[in-house]
Amino acid sequence: MANKILVTGGLGYIGSHCVVALCEAGYEPVIVDNHSNARASVLERLERLTGRELSCFDIDIRNRAGLETLLQREPCQGLIHLAAFKAVGESVAQPLRYYDNNVGGSVSLFDAFDAAGGGAIVFSSSATVYGDVEAKSLHENMPVQPTNPYGQTKAMIEQVLADMVRARDARSRGLALRYFNPAGAHDSAIIGEDPKDAPNNLFPIIVQVAVGQRERLTIFGEDYDTPDGTGVRDYIHVVDLAQAHVKALTVLLSGGFDAPFTALNLGTGTPYSVREVIAAFEAELSRKLPQTMGERRPGDVATLVADPSAAMAQLGWRAERGLEAMVRDAWRWAGAARQWGLWDEDT
Ligand code: UD1
Repeated sequence: MANKILVTGGLGYIGSHCVVALCEAGYEPVIVDNHSNARASVLERLERLTGRELSCFDIDIRNRAGLETLLQREPCQGLIHLAAFKAVGESVAQPLRYYDNNVGGSVSLFDAFDAAGGGAIVFSSSATVYGDVEAKSLHENMPVQPTNPYGQTKAMIEQVLADMVRARDARSRGLALRYFNPAGAHDSAIIGEDPKDAPNNLFPIIVQVAVGQRERLTIFGEDYDTPDGTGVRDYIHVVDLAQAHVKALTVLLSGGFDAPFTALNLGTGTPYSVREVIAAFEAELSRKLPQTMGERRPGDVATLVADPSAAMAQLGWRAERGLEAMVRDAWRWAGAARQWGLWDEDT
């Protein structure tokens, strides 16, 4: 019988791609999602894409009793934990909501999972835990010093997980995956990034400009110490990212790590500036996108690029898709989402 894997936030952007990757690798995903940032139609589209009926439960991760009951009914050997609030600006305005949902929810979830027998825990962390650092590329040994409540919640959950799995009676092992900038969509164009609220990230904002939902794109600063003056990031295709989760889980389940807790960067190691991303979209669309130069966005850093060598060495994984594929797949997904009316005003 296939290993069952609990996936919290399994209807979200990264979660839905993880569900597909898990099915492809022969696992049986058990989705938990409270629909706070996912559309109801994701499940039906995931079932179409994977060709199977999926188990999905509407449980908030703070509901420990609900999780306990679920894990009794559906014993899971692994957990991929992605459910979280993720807007940096909102986390500054409503820190307690973030600490309650992200940190409180994770404590409740990890506790329920370990009490039910434990297993392999893969946690969705973020490169944002490194904070404002000046380095060409970021290595896992660099200090964790987030600069906003959202980043703090990710750092705290890593710590909670590390302490929990190092405890004498722990039955679980843990891995935190520090994502750089996820982008793109599944190449079927059946799932993709589909935020309910106004997006803050570069890719979905460019897509909104390209489809005419937003008048123009604002480049947040051209006076950074980077080759063309605009911010430089490490964009990683969401399918590569999802496959890394499955690799991580497989390695954990086979007892492949020496330490009970490990943190790994997930990036490509290839830097791209804001201008280069816009140029890649313009090449894909064969037209110019309306854009203006704006001020720096508060809290942004000049460069955030991964040293991905540890994930390559320890997971036997490397990102295979480049910027062109991210742009092409994001654009194909946008076409499909619009065709289905997903992005009409009131859906
Ligand atoms: C942001 C979050 C980060 C989170 C990540 C998830 C902030 C400060 N950081 O990272 O915590 O983990 O998303 O994907 O919100 N840009 C523009 N114009 C725009 C939007 C973005 O020029 O309209 C630029 C930004 O200045 C940056 C780059 O594009 O240089 C990427 O921005 P974004 O996609 O928002 O990601 P991050 O800021 O890296």
